[in-house]
Amino acid sequence: MTSFNHQRRPLVVGIGGTTRAASSTERALGFALRGAEAAGADTRLFGGTFLHSLPHYAPENPQRTAEQLELIEAVRHADALIIATPGYHGGVSGLVKNALDTLEELRADERPYLDGRAIGCIVTAYGWQAAGSVLTSLRSIVHALRGWPTPFGAGINTLETRFDAVDTCSDAKVVDQLATVGQQAAQFALAFNGHRTPSVAAVGGAAIKEAQPARLLHAV
Ligand SMILES: Cc1cc2nc3c(=O)[nH]c(=O)nc-3n(C[C@H](O)[C@H](O)[C@H](O)COP(=O)(O)O)c2cc1C
Repeated sequence: MTSFNHQRRPLVVGIGGTTRAASSTERALGFALRGAEAAGADTRLFGGTFLHSLPHYAPENPQRTAEQLELIEAVRHADALIIATPGYHGGVSGLVKNALDTLEELRADERPYLDGRAIGCIVTAYGWQAAGSVLTSLRSIVHALRGWPTPFGAGINTLETRFDAVDTCSDAKVVDQLATVGQQAAQFALAFNGHRTPSVAAVGGAAIKEAQPARLLHAV
């Protein structure tokens, strides 16, 4: 059973970053989430520090940590997501992939995995080759999780583009590209399922924390 709430802003959840405090990947994700906010969404960011707190996903172990459950519940309630990864040795980083593997816990949901959700994809890399190939790889992962990659994805060459602070970027074109990723995710959510309120049965009656703006979560 699905009900519709025309007052609710869609929730866009961001997953991404690296263990580095000045992670350009996480900062790029922040720009995209602010683009989603400008398009009418609430956002929540799971950055590198949080992703690093997740244990390696072990499907045979029924125990889940509080952090794993927090991520699972947030994605369960999300109307769209933005995923940002560095290119590590030609692929998605283990840190980000582990978070995505944790979403296996959503397999039995009314909306399994990322079903029905727009997914913006962002890749940072020291060069155009990995930026392009890892973006394709990340989109393949999204397809496997039944998500809908947004038409525009951002590949960023961090040898050319610097993120010297949380909210600064050396290239205005990249800022526009990241905002476009966020806007497309939010617009898809608004058009497709932004007003959709999952049934209580579908979410197991669990409550989600109130969404927090992305900018408030960058300081950690
Ligand atoms: C373990 C490791 C593997 C990497 N592998 C690649 C690679 O295969 N191709 C590439 O272009 N950059 C590679 N890089 C560079 C990162 O993709 C790049 O520095 C990225 O922007 C780092 O993101 P961050 O600033 O969020 O930490 C690698 C970096 C690390 C630490």
